[in-house]
Amino acid sequence: MRHMPVTEIAVQKLAITEKNTGEDRPRDARGEGRFDLSGLIAAREPERYDLFTTHLNEMMVRVLQTIGYDVGFRSGHGQYLFDRKGDRYLDLLSGWGVFGIGRNHPVLRDALKTVLDADLPNLVQMDVSLLAGLLAERLLKYVPFLDKAFFCNSGTEAVEAAIKFARSATGRPGIVYCDHAFHGLSYGALSMNGDPTFKDGFGPLLPGCTEVPFNDLAALEKALAKRDIAAFFVEPIQGKTVEIADEMYLRGAQALCRKYGTLFVADEIQTGLGRTGTFFAIEHFGVEPDMVLVAKALSGGHVPVGAVLMRRPIFDKVFNRMDRAVVHGSTFAKNDLAMAAGLATLQVMEQERLVQNAARLGDRLLASFQRFTERYELVKSVRGKGLMIGIEFGAPRSLKLKASWSLLETVKSGLFCQLITIPLFKDHKILVQVAGNNNHVVKLLPALNITDADCDWIERAFDKVIADSHQVPGAVWTLGKTMAENARKAASGR
Ligand SMILES: Cc1ncc(COP(=O)(O)O)c(C=O)c1O
Repeated sequence: MRHMPVTEIAVQKLAITEKNTGEDRPRDARGEGRFDLSGLIAAREPERYDLFTTHLNEMMVRVLQTIGYDVGFRSGHGQYLFDRKGDRYLDLLSGWGVFGIGRNHPVLRDALKTVLDADLPNLVQMDVSLLAGLLAERLLKYVPFLDKAFFCNSGTEAVEAAIKFARSATGRPGIVYCDHAFHGLSYGALSMNGDPTFKDGFGPLLPGCTEVPFNDLAALEKALAKRDIAAFFVEPIQGKTVEIADEMYLRGAQALCRKYGTLFVADEIQTGLGRTGTFFAIEHFGVEPDMVLVAKALSGGHVPVGAVLMRRPIFDKVFNRMDRAVVHGSTFAKNDLAMAAGLATLQVMEQERLVQNAARLGDRLLASFQRFTERYELVKSVRGKGLMIGIEFGAPRSLKLKASWSLLETVKSGLFCQLITIPLFKDHKILVQVAGNNNHVVKLLPALNITDADCDWIERAFDKVIADSHQVPGAVWTLGKTMAENARKAASGR
């Protein structure tokens, strides 16, 4: 018998109902009353920026218009984006790191369609999910020293869960985190944010959170010594600065955590899933944390998901009795689409050897960029692992550049980097941004499926734009003057 697609069955069912019920007939799925999403998108597309200004974040629209990024992206495929004119861009943001496997991957798309077409029960709540079991089994294979998974819907939710689990497992209140850290923006995660800009105006935050300098074991020991710290949270490579943990820092931190009874938590929400050229960044450092946090790329970019992977005793301390079986969780956690997206993402990563690709092309780009530090006085350092790379700019030595640099930096620290990212976007069709507030690091975080041809594109474009930024007077510094003027006006509220 011909296998009949589920959609066809649904249409037949509707047709039968129509015959039987006369006047009260439900509307045909293909006829009157059909929800025409494609038509809606086509009809309303010209209103995109106006709608956003009226109903959502007007400031975001103003930023895009000011820096000329309002090109109206229409489609995405793999590592590329296409604007309203059909121009192709190389995306080095990958949606803040969610499109590890690239946009709209066919394997992911098929998995999501399969879930929808299969009429799965989904979120029964008083049942358990097969897909969640399969994803947990598959994820935990990458961290054989951990035993249990807890699923949620985002990175910040994974952090919140880890805070609760750590407090519950240790009976201690305190949390230690690093300066410049970024773990998310909900209250617990925000309380561990190493950038005051994000916290400003949102207090009071979670009590008992202590900041220590990154890569400083003495400071960490001092913070842990009172034995009241539940967990130390750390990103192996900090997302906001692309600062890499020193060779022995994470091992030392792990030893200190063990010594003082603190749980050691690796936030791999950005660095995980192949980003740094190993499946998890902790593999570079030979550590086995008590909890590993993932989110972002596990989603395939399309269905939000997060997870805390942890040792059994931590999990068992929280879910320790039948009446506590739902003591922590979230309504949409473990939903079928998210679980299927996770499974499809891991499948694609393995099939296409994306971890290996990230390692090889990351080494290539790092070596190319390293040469910039010798050739260009504005390039201070280049660092990263795999396809998480930061190029740090800094004050020049030569007098003619010094004056222009100071003009910009006295208006707003970090503004110089826009003189790199804007021409990269406008003239070279490369979408890239600064890593964080008030810093001079331009961060590359492309999809892990980029090719050698993409690397040629990146190297050529960065070389040209950085070379141009050393020309005074020149087009780049003319743009600089305009930006300084705009920033001054914005600061004075005009
Ligand atoms: C290291 C790290 N942790 C946590 C988060 C928060 O994730 P989400 O934005 O999904 O809440 C991020 C997001 O950028 C991150 O980079």
